[in-house]
Amino acid sequence: MSEPALLVTGAAGHLGRRVLEILLDVPGARTLIATTRQPAKLADLAARGVDVRAADFDDEAGLAAAFAGAGRALLISTDAVDAPGRRAAQHAAAIRALAAVGVQHVVYTSLVDAPTVGAVAADHRATEAALQESALDFTVLRNNLYAELALAAVPAAIATGALVDARGDGAVAWISRDDCARVAAAMLLEAALGRRLVHVAGPVAVTSAELAALIAELSGKAVVHRAVTVDERVAGLVAAGLPEGAARTYAAFDAAIAAGELAKTSTAVERLTGTAARPLRELIAAQLAA
Ligand SMILES: NC(=O)c1ccc[n+]([C@@H]2O[C@H](COP(=O)([O-])OP(=O)(O)OC[C@H]3O[C@@H](n4cnc5c(N)ncnc54)[C@H](OP(=O)(O)O)[C@@H]3O)[C@@H](O)[C@H]2O)c1
Repeated sequence: MSEPALLVTGAAGHLGRRVLEILLDVPGARTLIATTRQPAKLADLAARGVDVRAADFDDEAGLAAAFAGAGRALLISTDAVDAPGRRAAQHAAAIRALAAVGVQHVVYTSLVDAPTVGAVAADHRATEAALQESALDFTVLRNNLYAELALAAVPAAIATGALVDARGDGAVAWISRDDCARVAAAMLLEAALGRRLVHVAGPVAVTSAELAALIAELSGKAVVHRAVTVDERVAGLVAAGLPEGAARTYAAFDAAIAAGELAKTSTAVERLTGTAARPLRELIAAQLAA
């Protein structure tokens, strides 16, 4: 039997594009379908043979045509976190359409179990429940925080000498988005049966004090961790230009980190892809060298 066509939703996002690039580099012939709200952004992938189609989870009526012919699908969670539950409704619409067109297996990019995060985490739990209630087989990838979020704080930490957050002594098992993409691509390629939940995190958890020490060591500049309260963190992010809603979301992640909810490590990347996750030290060094 020939391999079923593999579909990636949200293909113009960072993760979706990377998964498709990885799949295109895997030897063997297969049909790749990419759905996105912005097909023009994927002209390069279309030129490499990817079947690029327009799809918007807010337009449920159009999803069945966009998903037609797919055998397995990677459902990438959207970034519609502006209103609680909006994203869960989008994902539920996508799940109904994937089931309606007869997809055999859905891989979903979820979030590790972090109740303190609030609405962002609740959307993921609601989507997992929608998958449970569907007739679909699935692989839920409970991804931890992208290491890119830690890297984004590096320039300011070096410039000011302080890594400021409300994470207290909490540690994070950071994982690069590229490693998340490699796991997602591997799960999509696998002819998995049934339903499973995979915890996807880095193999090491670091506190902000350890992260500050790492930045100091690699940059040669003095950097220390300065712990603030959640309210101070929100105020600092708003003062830096972030809208208050986004600032509260970031601060909620800090609170979840302080509560130890994002510290659980995993060897899933190496186990599922055959190549170990890229260590945070290496990611920071590469950023500083760039
Ligand atoms: N683990 C973490 O630390 C972390 C951090 C940030 C985000 N995330 C989650 O992981 C996802 C992928 O990460 P990323 O870095 O690739 O994010 P990103 O580059 O910001 O991409 C946003 C994604 O949302 C999709 N999207 C937005 N509205 C949509 C709609 N109405 N219908 C269908 N798709 C829609 C986009 O698809 P198109 O533009 O192609 O339509 C795109 O795939 C994010 O969307 C978010 O849910 C996780």
